[in-house]
Amino acid sequence: MTDTNTGGDVRLTGISKTYGSFTAVHPLDLTVPQGSFFALLGASGCGKTTTLRMIAGLEEPTTGTVFLGDKDVTDLPPYKRPVNTVFQSYALFPHLDIHENVAFGLRRRGVRSVEKQVGEMLDLVQLGDYARRKPHQLSGGQQQRVAVARALINHPQVLLLDEPLGALDLKLRRQMQLELKRIQTEVGITFIHVTHDQEEAMTMADTVAVMNGGRVEQLGAPAELYENPRTTFVANFLGTSNLIEAAVAEGRGAASDIVVTAGGGTLRLPADRCGAPTTTGGKLLVGVRPEKISLVHADDAGAIAAGRNQVTGRIVDTSFFGVSTQYVIDSPAGSGLQVYEQNIERDSRLAPGAEVVLHWNPAHTFGLDAAQDIQAGVETVEDAT
Ligand SMILES: Nc1ncnc2c1ncn2[C@@H]1O[C@H](COP(=O)(O)OP(=O)(O)OP(=O)(O)O)[C@@H](O)[C@H]1O
Ligand SMILES: [Mg+2]
Repeated sequence: MTDTNTGGDVRLTGISKTYGSFTAVHPLDLTVPQGSFFALLGASGCGKTTTLRMIAGLEEPTTGTVFLGDKDVTDLPPYKRPVNTVFQSYALFPHLDIHENVAFGLRRRGVRSVEKQVGEMLDLVQLGDYARRKPHQLSGGQQQRVAVARALINHPQVLLLDEPLGALDLKLRRQMQLELKRIQTEVGITFIHVTHDQEEAMTMADTVAVMNGGRVEQLGAPAELYENPRTTFVANFLGTSNLIEAAVAEGRGAASDIVVTAGGGTLRLPADRCGAPTTTGGKLLVGVRPEKISLVHADDAGAIAAGRNQVTGRIVDTSFFGVSTQYVIDSPAGSGLQVYEQNIERDSRLAPGAEVVLHWNPAHTFGLDAAQDIQAGVETVEDAT
């Protein structure tokens, strides 16, 4: 069923939504390629649902145009758009069995013989044996799959999913993420998935758009966003980042590395991983992810290989997570630095109060504009699941 032409891209141009004097979505240009799994990620209230509802036709944009392929659908009512939506509350018909819930869209369009299509859909979502049950006889995850089958049977060009897994417990949610990804790969249609769960967005989507305050701050493949955040919000909202306030010692020049000072020490970062200006003496935020850092006791500092970025500090807290241990370290370079160490050979000296050295490959360091709020995106993470 996969179609590789781009005739089915979802294209938003200058789409915005204001309610009175409040702007829920600032003018937005966005292209979702046909057949992709696209995630809109952001904290509560950032405008995700509003954006989705404008694509579905459930909300009238204040400005801008919605294209499906080359067709301007801005003025079309929802039922005339080749788009279906799965909401967080699946809203299955309680009095109809699963078969009839899935058949609903076909029957409404006057399709007589529904058996084959309904059977295929139930197989797709692996509920073939449940056709005659009522919704209340299914688990949350199974009901969710019925909702997906019920939407997909209409063969929409685009499936919109608004926090469809929000009602499920953590384990089931993880399972359903894989399941939805499998279904999307199998049917090959465009999925636009709204979530505030960064892990969910990263595991499922080909492309993630990170929204903040009604704007898309950054858009890209999950690994690209994670490794090269361009703003402090993206750095903090997508996973965890250590952001260190530094002063530029050697800016962009002949050398490929930028050199900065922080907490009395020197750090290097690749010039191409820094999107901010680097005037000598100017400020820069230097970032490194917690899993990129190695931790050694200060007594062993001599064994650290040359050329690594190094920061000294003292452990203030440790948490054991089974596969890893997370350390919080206060350092002259910054307080509350985080380090994740895999539990392979644990050094029992690495306990609260211990003097340590953090070291990492300079290539794993990124640079951000110091004019931003260093805490942006930190407190907005609601559930650190
Ligand atoms: N009908 C409305 N009238 C006034 N303000 C609205 C209306 N609908 C939404 N808003 C506001 O617009 C902003 C964006 O809302 P939206 O529902 O798009 O957020 P969201 O990103 O989906 O959040 P959540 O994760 O909580 O679902 C919010 O501040 C919300 O209060
Ligand atoms: Mg919402």
